[in-house]
Amino acid sequence: MGNTDEGVPDELVQAAREARERAYVPYSGFRVGAAILGRSGRIFTGCNVENASYGATICAERTAFVKAISEGERQFDHVVVCASAPQPVSPCGICRQFMSEFGLDTPVTMVGEAGASITMRVRDLLPNAFQPEDLSL
Ligand code: THU
Repeated sequence: MGNTDEGVPDELVQAAREARERAYVPYSGFRVGAAILGRSGRIFTGCNVENASYGATICAERTAFVKAISEGERQFDHVVVCASAPQPVSPCGICRQFMSEFGLDTPVTMVGEAGASITMRVRDLLPNAFQPEDLSL
């Protein structure tokens, strides 16, 4: 798998861009695609899926994670997010929490269409995350 300068697999960026084309965004028009590289080597993709009841909308990142988890993947080596925006777009708070469940060290690369990209680990996107261990009674 080829890599860009920052160690992001090109194939993952391409997969996120392709997923973005499938975004269902009649309300915002804001397309987002995500792609996750699982430890098995499989790539899982997702797009945002909006709803007339706006709060029922699901972000691209969570779509991809739910697809991966439901296919049996539990460990993740890289996440890429590509929005229909010139600048890199950050995952929302709910998606940060969702990702933190499956690995604080996973790198998340946010790719802007103007060429800039930013890579941060989940633990830096969501410092002091609420974790499964916090539920111990
Ligand atoms: N959205 C995502 O899919 N991922 C993000 O990281 C940020 C926001 C979606 C939700 C909604 O469909 C649209 O972008 C505008 O908020």
